[in-house]
Amino acid sequence: MASPYNIVVIVGSIRKESFTLKIANTLAKLAPASLKLDVTTLQGISFFNQDLEATPPADWLAFREKLQKSNGVLFVTPEYNRSIPGVLKNAIDVGSRPYGKSSFLGKPTGIVSNSPGPLGGVSAAKHLQNILPGISGPIMGQPEIYLNAIGDAFDDRGECSKETLLKVMQQYIDAYAAFVEKQNK
Ligand code: FNR
Repeated sequence: MASPYNIVVIVGSIRKESFTLKIANTLAKLAPASLKLDVTTLQGISFFNQDLEATPPADWLAFREKLQKSNGVLFVTPEYNRSIPGVLKNAIDVGSRPYGKSSFLGKPTGIVSNSPGPLGGVSAAKHLQNILPGISGPIMGQPEIYLNAIGDAFDDRGECSKETLLKVMQQYIDAYAAFVEKQNK
């Protein structure tokens, strides 16, 4: 088999027991053999500051390089105040520069939102769909995925125990794998 496509999974929460992180890890386990998911948390990414663009911090350069070397980017995000968390917006700003040379460019992109609440973080996902088009690659339109009521979905070891949730995550990651395959041809 050809070597798997390397997908950077950007986790929009830096909380230790983050549901978003658990979802990202579950997707990594469910992914077909054609994908290798690199679950990436955003601790240690310096605040974006245009003053630093001429001499970017090492953490910005490392993050950009990781994106550039990837075959796709999968955003997994919670919703904060009907949008995406600040840490995620900061990382997107870092990855989007220098102007015209966004590290997300050309990367087949997926968006997975979640919430313990009833709406599945749909507003955060919609905001990502507004932010990304000018700086990213193609965004997979179908299927959409907004995971709701995820508060009781994981056991103490971070394993997902809800069959319905596993099923939609499996469908999503299989569709994303096909999308990545098509875009990388
Ligand atoms: C939230 N939460 C939340 N949930 C939601 O569905 N819509 C929202 O607008 C918000 N807003 C919001 C703002 C702030 C500042 C916090 C801290 C939380 C609840 C949120 O979904 C919940 O805390 C999740 O557990 C956060 O994701 P992680 O850290 O578990 O991945």
